[in-house]
Amino acid sequence: MNILQVSSEVFPYSKTGGLADMTVSLAKAQVETGHHVTIATPLYKGIREKFENLEPSGIELSIIIGPKQKTAKIWQLKLKKTLTILFVDQPDFFERNSIYGQEDDAERFIFFSKAVAQLASLSEFSFEIVHAHDWPSALTIPLLSICQRKYKKVFTVHNAAYQGRFSRDKFELTGLPKAFFNWEQMEFYNDINLLKGGIIFADLVTTVSPQYAKELISTEYGCGLEGVFKAKGNNMVGVLNGVDYSEWNTVSNPYLAAPYSADSLNNKAVNKSALQSELGLRQQSEIPLFGNISRFAEQKGIDILIGALEQLLETGAVFQFAGLGSGDSSLEHAMKQLSERHPDQIAVRIGYDTRLAHIIEAGTDFFVMPSRFEPCGLNQLYSLRYGAIPIVRATGGLENSIIDFRQDEEIATGIKFVDPSPRELSQVLDLALTLYSDKSRLDKIRDNGMRADFSWNRTIAEYDRLYKSIDH
Ligand code: ADP
Ligand code: GLC
Repeated sequence: MNILQVSSEVFPYSKTGGLADMTVSLAKAQVETGHHVTIATPLYKGIREKFENLEPSGIELSIIIGPKQKTAKIWQLKLKKTLTILFVDQPDFFERNSIYGQEDDAERFIFFSKAVAQLASLSEFSFEIVHAHDWPSALTIPLLSICQRKYKKVFTVHNAAYQGRFSRDKFELTGLPKAFFNWEQMEFYNDINLLKGGIIFADLVTTVSPQYAKELISTEYGCGLEGVFKAKGNNMVGVLNGVDYSEWNTVSNPYLAAPYSADSLNNKAVNKSALQSELGLRQQSEIPLFGNISRFAEQKGIDILIGALEQLLETGAVFQFAGLGSGDSSLEHAMKQLSERHPDQIAVRIGYDTRLAHIIEAGTDFFVMPSRFEPCGLNQLYSLRYGAIPIVRATGGLENSIIDFRQDEEIATGIKFVDPSPRELSQVLDLALTLYSDKSRLDKIRDNGMRADFSWNRTIAEYDRLYKSIDH
């Protein structure tokens, strides 16, 4: 099949979270199974300087956005014969210091989606599937539903908490018929909601784990769109994301102090020592070391984590913690304060650092994810392979990917807890400390996790089946 993937983040060109990893690894896996894949994404600041083999495609589109006409110059990067990335260039919109959170995000991503819709309809492409991801690309779907050419339109929701909801005057920018601004299509409580538009006009909606698909139809998780998700019925499916192990592995990884694997675990201790040294923690291999890497957002339960660590510290427990993240400034502050109060045990780096992310995964014994909700979660999957036993809240993809050791120790890969409270998390952290001193049980759980296969091989056929099931 000839597939167009549309995403506002594509690793390594741009990334704020798992979306960037998911879209590129899905595309690679689709190419492996014989498809022809193109990815469309914005050309953000610095990409052309860093990736010098980008070349002009010769395509220049003229996009109407409100009273203005703006050009979208398309750059291309051919990664393989059947894998191309197309970058949409408009410096006024994308030459910025961050990807999201700008005052004119509505204009920026409406522009992007309009450019992609126009690109898709050029005669030189013959896309059969257009697969868009999350709110920044969502408008592509309604736009393609009114053009002459017919595409199979697929929309993946990675996170329903971010909806691209803007004041109603932005609707005009979309170029959609006025009649589309009603509560059954693009309107949401008098505003425009791009995510909703993507869901409604898609032939098929997917989300990134079976459990999150179930959760989305509840008021607790649906973020006001539960009715919209419910109405999709069988056209709303959860497929767990896969991992690109060529990127996330411990055997051939330039960031790690020493290679290791399930078959040869000795060097895991070398990586632990390297992490302790880098973060200024005491270099002792026998001290249990917890880790976390996160966007500091409500979703990730960083406040719960801080509360639980405080409770554990009060008991005088011997452990260390290595954290990396950025986002909400009050959480950044609280994390920093905690590490300043307990410099021997808690080390925190505020910022975004891919190298350190790999080093934390490789150096820690346990990886903690107390998410309030987690559509899929990639860090727990990376942690499994890196031998950092996941301690996760039982929600979304965390529920689907981790088996608690109290459920079945033979096949267990981690520890799960249900109540998103510091109290319950500190109890399972304590349980982890007990487990840590029981080496044979610990080794078994870690070994199960390291050998687990969460590559796209597991699920790529499911996307194929779903694409094929759309009939026109
Ligand atoms: P989400 O997409 O909700 O943030 P995921 O678990 O799916 O959560 O993916 C997060 C991805 O972003 C992982 O690859 C993780 O390593 C990376 N990441 C998050 N925060 C940071 C950070 N501060 N520095 C480096 N990488 C980070
Ligand atoms: C979102 C979700 C995360 C998921 C990622 C990739 O950012 O928050 O759970 O893993 O998308 O699908």
